[in-house]
Amino acid sequence: MTDLLNPPPAPLAAADTPADPSTGGSEAVRELLVQNVSWQADGVLSLRVVDPSGAPLPPWSPGAHLDLVLPSGLVRQYSLCGRPEDRHGYTVAVLLVEDGRGGSREIHETALVGRTVSVRGPRNRFPLADAEHHLFIAGGIGITPILAMVREVSARGLDWRLAYGGRSRSSMAFTEELRGLGPDRIEFVPQDERGPLDLDALLTGVEPNTAVYCCGPEGLLTAVQQRHADSGAAFELHFERFGAPVTADSDADSGESGDADGAESPFEVELRRSGEVLTVPPGRSILDTIREVAPEVMSSCEEGFCGTCETRVLEGVPEHRDTLLSERERERGKTMMICVGRSKTPRLVLDL
Ligand code: FES
Repeated sequence: MTDLLNPPPAPLAAADTPADPSTGGSEAVRELLVQNVSWQADGVLSLRVVDPSGAPLPPWSPGAHLDLVLPSGLVRQYSLCGRPEDRHGYTVAVLLVEDGRGGSREIHETALVGRTVSVRGPRNRFPLADAEHHLFIAGGIGITPILAMVREVSARGLDWRLAYGGRSRSSMAFTEELRGLGPDRIEFVPQDERGPLDLDALLTGVEPNTAVYCCGPEGLLTAVQQRHADSGAAFELHFERFGAPVTADSDADSGESGDADGAESPFEVELRRSGEVLTVPPGRSILDTIREVAPEVMSSCEEGFCGTCETRVLEGVPEHRDTLLSERERERGKTMMICVGRSKTPRLVLDL
């Protein structure tokens, strides 16, 4: 995952904490009105949400995403694909995933226009890098954050290329706008006509000082990560993940495995704001334990990859088991994903 400069604060369901300028985001939860829903491509709808009073919304930068709390209570993350200069509305695009976990189906099959949804963010875990060249690789709905990023690098006059793969032309959203941004810089690869993206051709001999960005299906991310490793990290890789890694084993990835014999030990969690002290038993997550006293704590994937439950750690040393934080963020230990993380110390004090 791209290395973030600063972590976002705690995931309270209702908060009035100020925007965090370091992430270009806000942790306050707002009730926003779904102003319109538009068809973008086969299976892809875009939603524009606005403040019901017409007030401006917190700023964001390309690559940022929102947590949307749907009317059913499901929490999902969607990348912003509108324009940051439009301070009066956020736009996200949603692909219908037939066999998904229900969030996209709710958006596609429920008449949301005129209803309010709770929104947290924006937060940016996928910002543009300070590089000379920018190579974007998008698969399917992974184009949503990349659309905003491409607009930005194009407007800044930077050197960029985009390879955009999709199942078929009709399933690929935003192609017209992208063509207008730089027809010679973009390769559209509908799989039913041209096969999958040729990653070897794209990533072999990448120029020095190139930032490569990838967003798309898990298989594409894994393949790009593999080529990055095989190249000896010859290029800088940034990616956005909205699913569990194919070989999810965060303990192995992080080199952390809790107790030496593999068994989990109980530990205490102190919630600094309420003063409650809870015991997290073996086999139970911090999130589930906290929910007994604070059912409003937000979560989504509960597998450590989405970031919804990211919480500030005030004291103690977390044992990270997520697949989201960078090595530097793990070492700093300032935040953790409480849906999967545990503690290396007898007590953790959390900003909740
Ligand atoms: S709920 Fe997704 S990381 Fe914890």
